[in-house]
Amino acid sequence: MICDFLIIGGDGDLAFRKLYPALYHLDRDQCLPACLKIISVSRTRHTAKAFSQKTRDMLIAQLGDNKPDAPTWKRFNARLSHYALDASNEAELSRLAHTVLNDRSRDLVTYLATPPDIFAPICQSLWAVGLVRDNMRLVIEKPLGSSRESFNAINNSLTDIFDEHQIYRIDHYLGKETVQNLLTLRFANSLFEPLWSNNYIDHVQITAAETIGTGGRWPFYDEAGALRDMVQNHLMQLLCLLAMEPPASLDARAVHDEKLKVLRSLAPLTGRDVADHTVRGQYAAGTIDGQSVPSYQQESDATGTSGTETFVAIKASINNWRWAGVPFYMRTGKRMQRRFCEIVVQFKKLPHAIFPEQAHQNSANRLVIQLQPEEGIRLYLLNKVPGLDESFPMENVSLDLALSEAFTGRRVPEAYERLLFDVMRSNSTLFMRADQVEAAWQWVDDIADGWKQQKQKSLPYMAGSNGPADSIALIARDGRRWQD
Ligand code: BG6
Repeated sequence: MICDFLIIGGDGDLAFRKLYPALYHLDRDQCLPACLKIISVSRTRHTAKAFSQKTRDMLIAQLGDNKPDAPTWKRFNARLSHYALDASNEAELSRLAHTVLNDRSRDLVTYLATPPDIFAPICQSLWAVGLVRDNMRLVIEKPLGSSRESFNAINNSLTDIFDEHQIYRIDHYLGKETVQNLLTLRFANSLFEPLWSNNYIDHVQITAAETIGTGGRWPFYDEAGALRDMVQNHLMQLLCLLAMEPPASLDARAVHDEKLKVLRSLAPLTGRDVADHTVRGQYAAGTIDGQSVPSYQQESDATGTSGTETFVAIKASINNWRWAGVPFYMRTGKRMQRRFCEIVVQFKKLPHAIFPEQAHQNSANRLVIQLQPEEGIRLYLLNKVPGLDESFPMENVSLDLALSEAFTGRRVPEAYERLLFDVMRSNSTLFMRADQVEAAWQWVDDIADGWKQQKQKSLPYMAGSNGPADSIALIARDGRRWQD
């Protein structure tokens, strides 16, 4: 895989925050072919020295105390180059195609780190200058539309030019170690799979809570809201990994087929169901970690009043044999009390209690898969409290597996490292196929339409809280509670 790695939008936030650091780490871990070149393209002019300095400064900011080590930086810097041109302009791109990128025997990875509204003209231009060929792969990332219709429009402009197997759609959650570990946990252990169905599982909770607000991109976020920004992609991908049938292999097609079946089995939420099964919220001013934070509408880059949701909770159902009757509760929000992403699999209560205390306990067994900030797995079990009491007092205790302790000394790679490396080695298992993205949009579109029709408002919640009280009521109505 002798590669040219072309980054269009190579002078942007995504490139500096995620792509160069990931490529740098891959270089340090000796994962990049010796002659791989990293070619940045953007309209901004930089001298070679200034671009290299900017990349180094951003890397230092990302790496914190771990400064780039001298030999790796030297090697990495020698790979880097920057060209100021408009990639959607054929004449400008053709100069690059006929000089720097003229060796057709080298694999070419092209990353569009640009807004999606210019994907189409850039791809046209890549095709016109002859850069689209069998050994070329295209990488794109969200926002891939704001509805099924707009996704299809973007996607059609790509599939007019590329084959599906050449398109790598990133959802960075799929690159996270613990998300990949969901596959291992479920399909490499014999322990859980026999229990993994409505026979033994009462319900599932998926929470992605953030303490940050809109992070200086209010106008963009305001168009999207939590449903499109987090649920349509990250949360639904987690749901697929949890609910899918065992794929026949780790082959991309086998995994994608199983995920698609889950998405197509999701009970659509339409009309009244939307109000009964979803809660929208928007943060009001509050305090997080002792710091006052403004309300969503008073963020410094807010451009007006808005009804956009910064929190959403959903009760989803999967209509198939395995999951009938098992609710999947999902929630995500900004400016919440603490940052955590967690999956809770709650097992059912036993049919008959022989211990006196057990009769009052709710179902005791719970598997908690923690994705961030720490990565680990906890299994809750009822245990006898040591002592002579003949009533068998018991306590719910957990078996804890902290990944950092189980694998001491092993650096956990960043999501983008894994994903970029997989693109280079043509492995698309951890990427999203078009039909999956479309099915996820369909489900989300129904919810968004329902909100509009029912005029369902975003309820205020205090920054630093766990979201609106109605989200507690959503799950409490079923006799359950969020495991915070
Ligand atoms: C992005 C969303 O896709 O994911 C952001 O656009 C969100 O709004 C981010 O903050 C969360 O990612 P992570 O990896 O920090 O959980």
